[in-house]
Amino acid sequence: MKQSKRFIFLICVCLFVFATSCSAATNAEEIKLAKILGTMNFSSKNEILNNKNQFLQELKAVLDNDSDFLLVLVDKTHFLQPDYVPEDLIPLKKNDLYNISRNDLSLRIPVEKALQVMSRGAKKDGITLLVSSTYRSYDYQKKLFARYVAQDGEALAERYSARAGTSQHQLGTAIDFGSITDEFAETKQGRWLYDHAAEYGFSLSFPAGYEDVTGYMWECWHYRYIGKEACALQKKWFGDIQQYMMEFIDAWTRED
Ligand code: DAL
Ligand code: ZN
Repeated sequence: MKQSKRFIFLICVCLFVFATSCSAATNAEEIKLAKILGTMNFSSKNEILNNKNQFLQELKAVLDNDSDFLLVLVDKTHFLQPDYVPEDLIPLKKNDLYNISRNDLSLRIPVEKALQVMSRGAKKDGITLLVSSTYRSYDYQKKLFARYVAQDGEALAERYSARAGTSQHQLGTAIDFGSITDEFAETKQGRWLYDHAAEYGFSLSFPAGYEDVTGYMWECWHYRYIGKEACALQKKWFGDIQQYMMEFIDAWTRED
């Protein structure tokens, strides 16, 4: 082989080795993945195990985007501190894109921006979204839960209302839309959100038929902003169930 050909051949080999090492999961990652999935129980987990490299590449792209606060697991066993208040809350004001049901609503800045974009999309389809509940402080949630316990008893209240420290609303990234009733699902707004919210980064937190997984009855009005890429990851690898993805990400990032 001539000197120049040998040089080109060497460059090609180096590029090939570099490319495969970039996309391939390391042994440690494969072990970690198998260990975490071994503790989880959802039907699409075998898809992940059969496509480890692809999955890990997509997972890393989601985790690398500097918005960790969007993917924090908050549920009945993963609490936020009483003094946790998001740093960039802004009040929602009357505007031409979406309606607000009261004047004391607030969201984190990137979430309000995403809400504007989604509302523009809804408007194009002739729909104006109504925002009914957003950020709730620890103390507010405490009072709300106590009120529901007084009204319906603890066992029932637990199924639809979060105890203080366990509500996604404390994150400032969750929104309740419309009437906050089951009937909302069959309204134009409810149907539009169900079909399109994920395109704008909003994920339905408590889907129908998953109370044993999420801890809550179906809430067709409650969406959490997690970003478009995370919504796509949720749909592709986690059966479109937010809880499964959040539990997985929580376990994955804890072990780093
Ligand atoms: N209704 C939901 C579960 C909350 O209270 O955060
Ligand atoms: Zn809600």
